[in-house]
Amino acid sequence: PVGAPDKALAKKVTKVGIIGAGLMASQFALLFVRKLQVPVIITDLDQARVDKGVAYIHSEIGKLQEKGRLDGDTANKLRALVHGTTDKSEFADCDFVIEAVFEEVGVKQQVFGDIEKVIAEDAILATNTSSLSVEEIGSKLAHPERLVGFHFFNPVAVMPLIEIVKTPQTNDAALSTAFVVAKNLGKNGVLTADAPGFVVNRLLAKVMGEAARAVYEGTPIDKVEKAFAPLGLPMGPFQLIDLVGWKVAAHVQDTMVRAFPDRFYANDNFHKLAELDTVVEKDKGGRVVGFTKAAEKIVKSAVGN
Ligand code: 3HC
Repeated sequence: PVGAPDKALAKKVTKVGIIGAGLMASQFALLFVRKLQVPVIITDLDQARVDKGVAYIHSEIGKLQEKGRLDGDTANKLRALVHGTTDKSEFADCDFVIEAVFEEVGVKQQVFGDIEKVIAEDAILATNTSSLSVEEIGSKLAHPERLVGFHFFNPVAVMPLIEIVKTPQTNDAALSTAFVVAKNLGKNGVLTADAPGFVVNRLLAKVMGEAARAVYEGTPIDKVEKAFAPLGLPMGPFQLIDLVGWKVAAHVQDTMVRAFPDRFYANDNFHKLAELDTVVEKDKGGRVVGFTKAAEKIVKSAVGN
């Protein structure tokens, strides 16, 4: 319930910090460096994780170059703008820091607490949490007014939406900066309330959870996907779960069950499936055609329960 933020209050972003170097975080780094063309620094728990993230970014820049989307000079410039480190003190001059670490409030509070010790008092902090309370994540900060929710969607390069989440503490500078950064990334920032699952995951969790229940009730997975197709969405529910990752999807389910136990169902089988390396079989076009043998076993035990 706020009006449009005043763009004039937005902070100029000259260096971006990314906490986490997993697939999601590495996709952000690539997007930030391509669209803002400012230095982007990326960190994680250890050097191996950081190196993996940086290698992914370099390889994606190489692919864009091969496709003719980037010329050699620009590709080299972008590579040079990305820097991986395990030394948090290198974040000191970042004016926009976003985290994409494990979806656990305590972990997010901890990483922001560490970063807050080194960054400027007015640097903006953003969390990519997909369903946790942004206010709670910021509750341990010395300056919670600088924290904003900034939730991307998979695949980051192509999905046009960013859910921008304001807490009761978020100040106008943080909110305005979030909207301007989203626009400069070529995305549509949409303001959402700081409520579990915000808007999109609240809806998707329902779709994914009910799709799983349809299977447990005996409808084969490929038939669920087929039944969904005429609705005109780009992917069936199981293809979508596979895209975002079963662990992430299971985690979102849990958050929604905790928040709204009267509207969402606990789904233990989802967690069992998420433990497998591969859950679904796909055809050449990427459409889900069945479960893997290991997944089929779990699902069979769930049918009728
Ligand atoms: N990474 C980067 N780029 C990708 C990509 C990926 N994984 N998958 C596709 N693309 C790019 C392609 O390179 C192509 O780009 P180009 O037009 O510039 O060449 C473009 O996307 C379109 O790709 P395709 O033509 O191959 O494929 P489709 O037309 O089938 O589109 C899709 C692919 C955009 C992924 C589409 O299927 C889609 O929109 N799916 C739904 C995705 C969705 O709903 N995401 C939200 C998930 S929820 C979430 O992330 C929240 C989290 O908190 C859980």
